[in-house]
Amino acid sequence: MAARVLITRRMPEVAAEILQEAGLSVELLPPREEGSPAALRERVRGCTALLATLRERIDRDVLEAAGPALRVVANCAVGFDNIDVPACTARGVRVTNTPDVLTDATADLAWALVLAAARRVVEGDQLVRSGRWAGWEPLQLLGLELTGATLGVIGAGRIGAAVARRSLGFRMRVFYCDVRPNPQLEAEVGAQQCELERLLRASDVVSLHVPLTMQNVHLIGAAQLAQMKPTAVLVNTSRGPVIDEAALVDALRTGRIAAAGLDVYENEPRLAPGLAELPNVVLLPHLGSATTETRRRMAAMAAENVVAVLAGRPPPNPVNLRQGLDVESARFAGA
Ligand code: DGY
Repeated sequence: MAARVLITRRMPEVAAEILQEAGLSVELLPPREEGSPAALRERVRGCTALLATLRERIDRDVLEAAGPALRVVANCAVGFDNIDVPACTARGVRVTNTPDVLTDATADLAWALVLAAARRVVEGDQLVRSGRWAGWEPLQLLGLELTGATLGVIGAGRIGAAVARRSLGFRMRVFYCDVRPNPQLEAEVGAQQCELERLLRASDVVSLHVPLTMQNVHLIGAAQLAQMKPTAVLVNTSRGPVIDEAALVDALRTGRIAAAGLDVYENEPRLAPGLAELPNVVLLPHLGSATTETRRRMAAMAAENVVAVLAGRPPPNPVNLRQGLDVESARFAGA
């Protein structure tokens, strides 16, 4: 019998095409069952591979329901905090992700948020549409001048570095904060590594690009927001729980910081009370990687990871079982 692969959500068809070409039997969770943990547990029974998205929580219950045939969980995302990696490892189930292919799309979107929040693009759009706009005013919707400003990048991996590189056009000074130095970034944009507090105090724009680990939950809370400039803009395209969203609402409401641009939320898709009512925040529905090309590349990469594992080859993008080194999954570690 052909190995069975369950795809948990509608995605670019290239994923199913690659799997079928490899002789695998592909099952799609019916659209009305997408997002239902019970349906996932039911449909995953006996599957050899699971091609999942960040919306599905792949925990012990799902692994238990799948049974011993399951060999790989391929996440169609670079982040994998939705997967209990240690539990997969304990069962000998490979976990894979989709790095690199979404770096530019996500960095572009981070800049869309920087520009929209700094230059009050959404407020301006709403004013024009409302019919209340009476014409040009010297003091109307004044924002932050980006050229020559200071950018603080928290997490200088692939996406953080791509965001920093894009700042060259704005002749910005760049600080970054990371557990590892990034000499290439320092050479390319003159970025300077520093401690979080120094970055927060110095930056006009702060952009978050860290993975969601236990250490990074509420990395930005009330204390960190208090260290930022009152004119600063905070952008998050990483994972929502990196920011204490209630503290952010307070900081935006009281003018502790000037504005924020968010693509991700602490309890997606729910928002912290009061967030949606604030004029000085731009809110996007987790669109970082949402270009046609990038989503196609992510789907293809996830499928190729499945094919490799089921063919007995090392997957191109392993998350666990890499030279015996397991990577902890933040949401689940210690949970
Ligand atoms: C990811 O890949 O982790 C993004 O959040 C979604 O594209």
